[in-house]
Amino acid sequence: MSWSGPAGQGETIAILDFGSQYSQLIARRVRECGVYSQIYSSAALPADIESLAPKGLILSGGPASVYDGRSPRLPSYVRQSGKPILGICYGMQLLAHYLGGQVTPAARHEYGAATLDVVDPPSPLFDGLPAQLKVWMSHGDQVQKLPQGFRSLAKTSNAPIAAFGDEQHHIYGLQFHPEVQHTEYGTAILHNFLYRICGCRGNWKPASFIAEAVSAIRSQVGRGQAICALSGGVDSTVAATLVHRAIGDRLTCVFVNHGLLRLNEAESNLQLFRTHLGLNVIYVDASERFLTALRGVTDPEQKRRIIGRQFIRLFEAEAFKLGEVDFLVQGTLYPDVIESNAADTGVASRIKTHHNVGGLPEDMRLELIEPLRYLFKDEVRQIGVQLGLPEEIVHRQPFPGPGLAVRMIGEVTEQRLARLRAADAIVTSEIEASGADQDLWQFFAILTPTRTVGVMGDERTYGNVVAVRAVLSDDGMTADWATLAPELLARISSRVVNEVPGVNRVVYDITSKPPATIEWE
Ligand code: XMP
Repeated sequence: MSWSGPAGQGETIAILDFGSQYSQLIARRVRECGVYSQIYSSAALPADIESLAPKGLILSGGPASVYDGRSPRLPSYVRQSGKPILGICYGMQLLAHYLGGQVTPAARHEYGAATLDVVDPPSPLFDGLPAQLKVWMSHGDQVQKLPQGFRSLAKTSNAPIAAFGDEQHHIYGLQFHPEVQHTEYGTAILHNFLYRICGCRGNWKPASFIAEAVSAIRSQVGRGQAICALSGGVDSTVAATLVHRAIGDRLTCVFVNHGLLRLNEAESNLQLFRTHLGLNVIYVDASERFLTALRGVTDPEQKRRIIGRQFIRLFEAEAFKLGEVDFLVQGTLYPDVIESNAADTGVASRIKTHHNVGGLPEDMRLELIEPLRYLFKDEVRQIGVQLGLPEEIVHRQPFPGPGLAVRMIGEVTEQRLARLRAADAIVTSEIEASGADQDLWQFFAILTPTRTVGVMGDERTYGNVVAVRAVLSDDGMTADWATLAPELLARISSRVVNEVPGVNRVVYDITSKPPATIEWE
C-alpha cells in the first residue's frame, strides 16, 4: 500500500492491543464517535504509532496479570508521550502497576454485570452521565492502591477502585469495558474521553475517505493495469468501484460463475456490474468445470479445497490472457488485517477453511491494491451508499465463497442445486416480504440428504428434508438463531413442500453459534 491509513483521517486515536478480544470493538466505538482509530500491537515501535499522530492512546484489556513475569509491559513510550491515556481493564492495571499503585487478585473474580457508583464530583469521563450505571466486568485482578496523583472515580460493591484518574495529566483507567453493549453509557464514556479529554472535534466520516482514496489509488497505479475478482459481495464491489473511479477501464474485473450461486444471481450480478456500475467485466461461466470437479465429493473441506483451486486456476488464466497486469484489487477489510497481524495470538484451531473468492494466487506477483484495509464492514457499507451502489448490494448478506456447495450436505449435482435454489428463493422472498430481514444477519435454506416419509394427497412420499437457518449476529463470529414468527415459518414450510420437487419436510435450525456454526458445512 502506498499510504498507511485511510487518507484524510484528521484526528486519530491509537489503540494498543494487549490481547483483548474486544480491541476491534474499541476501535469501532471510537470511529462511531467520529474519530478515526487504529489498533497497534502492544509491542509496536513508537515511531509507527507516532506516524499516526494520535490525539490520545487507549490501552486495551487482555488476559494477563501484571505481576506475571511474562505479561506484556507498559511501553515507556506511552508514559513519555504526554498524551491523554485511557486504560481499560488490563490497561488500567498496567497503568496502576507502572505508575506506583498496586494491583492484587480480587477476592472474587468478577464476570458480567455490576452496578457502578460514580464518585462525586464526577470526572470529565463521567460528565453528563447518571451517578449509577450498569457496567460489564471481566477481571480477576483489580487495583488495590492508587498511584500518586490519582483519585478513585467510581466503585462497585466488589471493586473500590473501578475507575481512576490523574486529571492533571489526563490519565484514566476503567476496570469495566465501556466498549461492550452491556455497559450503559459505554459509548458516552468513550465520547467524553475523546472530546472532553483528548480535545477531539470529530471529523471522521467514512465518506470523507472516498476522494482521497481515489487519489491515493491513482498515484499508486500510475499508468498500470489492475485486475479484480468480483463476487457480487459488498467488499469486492465497493473496492472495484473505488478503483474504477480512480483508473477507469484500466481496471478489468473477472466474475467467475462457479455454478454454485443462488437463483438468478449470476445474471443479476452481471447486469449490475456492467449496466449500473459501468465496470469492465469479463464473465466466465465455469459451472460445468466446477461441477465436474466436485462430482462424487461429499466431504466439506474437500469441496472447499476443490472450489478454491479451480477458482484460482481460472482467475490466473484470465489474467494471463489480459497480458501486462501489475495490480490486484482486493476487498480486504480491517478485521482481516488485524487478525493476520496478530502473530502472537497463535492460530485458533481450524474450524473451516474460509476460501474467499478473490484470494491471492500465491505466485502471481501482482502488487496489491486494498483500498478497504483500514475499514470495518459497516464503514464499507456507508462508502458503498456514498458511491451510489444500490441498496441490494450495500446490505447484501454474506454469502460463502464456495456458495451453495456448503449449503448442500452431500454430493453437489445439478438436480440438487436446482432444488436448493428453489427452496432458498422461497425462504429469502418470504422473509424479505415479512420485513424480518431487517434484523437478520443471514437467512437461507440448506438441502439435507436425509429422506423422510410423508403423505401428499393419498400418496406416500419419500423425500428430502430442507432446513431453514436465520441468525442474528454482529460480525458472524457468534450468532443467535432468530425467533421468526410462526406464520412466517408456516408459509415457508408450506411453499417449499408444495413447490420444490422431491422435498416433503422442512425443519428450522434452533442452534446458536457456538456450539454450531452458521453454515452447515
Ligand atoms: P460459519 O459457518 O463459520 O460462518 O459460522 C461465519 C460467516 O462466514 C461465512 N462463511 C464463508 N465465507 N468463504 C467465505 O467467504 C467460506 O468458505 C465461508 N464459510 C462460511 C458464513 O456465511 C458466515 O457469514
